[in-house]
Amino acid sequence: MDLGWGDPKASKWATNVGLITSDGPHGPNIMAAEWTYYVSYTPALISVHIGRGSKDKAGKATLENIRATKEFGVNLASQEQNAVSSIAGKSSGKEVDKISLLKEYGAEFYAAKKIKPPMLKGAATNAECKVKDILDMGDHAMVLGEVLEIESDQSKQPLIYSGNKYWKLGEHISKPAQAELDRIGALKAKYTKKS
Ligand SMILES: Cc1cc2nc3c(=O)[nH]c(=O)nc-3n(C[C@H](O)[C@H](O)[C@H](O)COP(=O)(O)O)c2cc1C
Repeated sequence: MDLGWGDPKASKWATNVGLITSDGPHGPNIMAAEWTYYVSYTPALISVHIGRGSKDKAGKATLENIRATKEFGVNLASQEQNAVSSIAGKSSGKEVDKISLLKEYGAEFYAAKKIKPPMLKGAATNAECKVKDILDMGDHAMVLGEVLEIESDQSKQPLIYSGNKYWKLGEHISKPAQAELDRIGALKAKYTKKS
């Protein structure tokens, strides 16, 4: 089946917002990608899912930059970076120099250690990645990146995105009470498969 953009049936995912930096044929660039996931510990891999474009819709500058250079930065937006995310996600690097715009707006960047694209200061996590694989799937490409460098700022909370809105992480939910854990333990024992 097909589900168009913004279908309410697909509105219940809650994700991070990856601010993906790249530097290639379209120059230094940044886009917002809610479909940014940490998918392997060893080796550490991050996948980012980027619209491939179609006959009626131009491909994203970020994907073209990454296909050409095989590297990208993942800057997980912090709670304070919703405006940065909107700027990165609402125009294309084919038309707008978003990095210069963001610098003038007040965002700061730093030079990456292992890759050419600039990295965003103030993010919850910054990861420098080299492409391990790019899989074209449906209308998006899965860009799988091997992490070369990663830093997380423990004082920052990640920005959350769900139902086309930005959110803050809410209240921590405690584990079930001991009585509930005991009941779950008894059920687990009852349904443990005999070898
Ligand atoms: C919060 C937010 C999340 C987004 N997530 C994605 C995503 O996961 N994948 C994608 O292809 N586009 C996503 N977009 C749209 C791109 O950021 C947008 O198309 C951008 O203009 C692409 O920039 P570029 O052409 O410079 O690469 C998102 C936009 C916003 C505002």
